[in-house]
Order: sequence, then structure tokens, then C-alpha cells
Amino acid sequence: MNILVTGGAGYIGSHTCIELLDAGFTPIVFDNLSNSSTIALDRVKQITGQTITFIKGDVRDAEALDHVFNEYNIYAVIHFAGLKAVGESVEKPLMYYDNNVSGSITLFGAMERNTVSRVIFSSSATVYGDPATVPITEDFPTSTTNPYGGSKLIIEDVLKNIHIAHPEWNIALLRYFNPVGAHKSGLIGEDPNDIPNNLMPYISGVAVGKLEQLSIFGGDYPTPDGTGVRDYIHVVDLAKGHVKALQAFENPSVDNLYTVNLGTGKGYSVLEMVAAFNKASNKPIKYQITDRRAGDIACCYADPSYAKTLIDWEATMGVQVMCDDTWRWQSNHPTGYKTND
Ligand code: NAD
Ligand code: UFG
Repeated sequence: MNILVTGGAGYIGSHTCIELLDAGFTPIVFDNLSNSSTIALDRVKQITGQTITFIKGDVRDAEALDHVFNEYNIYAVIHFAGLKAVGESVEKPLMYYDNNVSGSITLFGAMERNTVSRVIFSSSATVYGDPATVPITEDFPTSTTNPYGGSKLIIEDVLKNIHIAHPEWNIALLRYFNPVGAHKSGLIGEDPNDIPNNLMPYISGVAVGKLEQLSIFGGDYPTPDGTGVRDYIHVVDLAKGHVKALQAFENPSVDNLYTVNLGTGKGYSVLEMVAAFNKASNKPIKYQITDRRAGDIACCYADPSYAKTLIDWEATMGVQVMCDDTWRWQSNHPTGYKTND
């Protein structure tokens, strides 16, 4: 069965292609390469022995999408394509709404025209804003503090409205917590273009000697050690969640529209992550505690039990594996996909 994977050359998309192939699906990747490289797909071939069909295209291009839907018999779409840097979204809101929201609307329109009615959407824990309590269940109120989060909430709403108009569509809204880690081969992983915004690529950049020291954003949060707590989830566990979400479309007891958290249910502080990475890499991670980063919250972790009940998915890997795998990727490829093997 052909699965159209928008954004499939990216970090989560490339890992998901491996799991799709492993489960017998055929990914067809559609990506404009604005934040990725086809080398990731070459590496997927190296890992799986299978070539992936790749189409360079933008999800805002209706004609290009119609062409793909005409050419291939698509069973379902996994929609990763989007911009994801929170700070950049504050500076360039129109770019984010255009790319993420307009792109999604164009994609869903092409699906409707071409009678493709199954879609999995990459949402984010950011839609919970600053939660009143933890762990977070799917029925918590949603809110937004930046255009990136705003774009995710709008797209969720668009899909909920599509469900009202077309109750026969199968729609999965997957709310990811903090994806980290890399494939155990060390051949693919996260490869930020610029100075990383996120914790894990920053720590691994310090360990490999690319970055001088980590700034820990705030040491005075109401958490056990004063630093921010998050639910880090291994990207391969996350990728497997997409296969489970696809399989659940065939389960008559699962509603045609559903929302699930993909997290581990455990929170780790920044200092705990630094210690785990130090253990993985055997390198000192120089850091200093600085001011809080605007918009950050103290603590965020999932209640992932609904995903277990509904789609039979749960995370299996802990933070030490996440750090070991990140280090294997980073130390083998200090400059990401620019490092030749
Ligand atoms: P990524 O940047 O590595 O992958 C996104 C891919 O989409 C890239 O390959 C990029 O080139 C492509 N793309 C962007 N705009 C496009 C467009 N208009 N047309 C076609 N392709 C386009 O990011 P990722 O970490 O793999 O994230 C995948 C999805 O998951 C995104 O929607 C992101 O918002 C969401 N998400 C990510 C995180 C995270 O921390 N990584 C957390 C929650 C949700
Ligand atoms: N942090 C630092 N120093 C850094 C980077 C991060 O101390 O250089 C801290 C943050 O303050 C936070 C924790 O590390 O306490 C994690 O920060 P990340 O930037 O890695 O992740 P966030 O939880 O802030 O946000 C991520 C994604 C968002 C997504 C959200 C929920 O970047 O896109 O998870 O899924 F919306």
C-alpha cells in the first residue's frame, strides 16, 4: 500500500519511512527539501535495502499534488511537511501560516479531489500551552503562545471540520512530545541547518566540539532541580506510532477521527539530560545556567495511556538509549549529512 509521506526527507519523516517499509507499506516521499536532504533517503536505502520514490515538491502546489495522486494509488497520507522553529515563527508569522496552514489546506483539497481520505497529522504538545497539571491527557484545554503552535491548532481544527463534512475520512491527530534520538545504525538523525534551538541537538553539538557550551534556560523553575522538565521520546518509537496509527484506520472499533499523545509519560530535567548525555558520550558537557527563555514552561509530560488503549502503541526506549543513539549519529557525522561516510 502506497503511503504519501509529506516532509518524508526530514528528521521524523525519514525514521518513519524505515518503519513503514518494515511493516510492508510503500512510502512515497514528497518534500521541498527546505529543511532536509535526499541523503537521508539514500541512507534509508542503505538501512533497508529498498529504494524510496522521491518527489521534490511543495505542499502548497496543488498541481504537483494532483499529479502525485494521479500517478500513484495512495492509500493514506502522513503529513509531516511544515516549519517547526518556535522563535522563527514569532519573527515570521506569515511564513509559518502560509507554509503550515495554507500548505495543509492545499494538501487536504488535493486529497478531497482525488478521493484519498486517510490522513495522519503531526501535531504537537505545544497545543496544550502551559498545562495546569501534569501528566497531560488529550482532553486538556488547548491554547497557543506562538504562530507555530497557532498553525498546529488551526490545522487540527481544519481536520475536525473536514470530519464533520466527511465523516467517512480517517483522521489521526498525533500530538508529539519531545522527539530525540536517532536510528540505531547511526546513519540518520537530526541535522539542524543552523544553531540548534532544541536541547538535544545542542547538547550533542557541545559534546562533539561544534558548540562551546550549553545555556540552560532557567534554573529557578518549580521542578526538582530548578531546570525545565520535558517528555523526551525516541524518534524510532515515535515513527512506530505512525504505523500503529495507520493500522488503526482498519480497526472498526476506533473512531474515524482520533487524537492521541505520543510521549513516554516520564519527565526529565535539562540537568538529567545533560548527565545522561555525558554518560553516553563520555565527554564533558560544558554548561551555564542563564535566564529563562521567553515562552518556555516549567514542566510538560504526557499521559500516554490512551495511545496504548486505542492504537496499541507505547514507547519502549528510555533516555539512556535516546542519548546513546544520538551520540552514535552525532559522533559519526559531526556535520550531519554534510559529513561523508
Ligand atoms: P523537519 O524539518 O526535519 O522535517 C519537516 C520536513 O518538511 C522537511 O524535510 C522539510 O523540507 C519539509 N517541508 C517543510 N515545508 C514544506 C513544504 N511547504 N512542502 C514540502 N515539504 C516541506 O522536522 P521534523 O522534526 O521531522 O518534524 C516533522 C513534523 O513534526 C513537523 O510538522 C513538525 O512541526 C512536527 N513536530 C515536530 C516536533 C519536533 O520537536 N521535532 C515536535 C512536535 C511536532
Ligand atoms: N533548553 C535549554 N537550552 C537550550 C535548549 C533548550 O535549557 O539550548 C531547555 C528548554 O528551556 C526546555 C528543554 O530544554 O526546558 C527542552 O527545550 P526544547 O527547545 O528542546 O523543546 P521545547 O519543549 O521547548 O519544544 C519542543 C519543540 C516544539 C514543540 C514542543 C512540544 O521545539 O516545537 O517541544 O512538542 F512544540
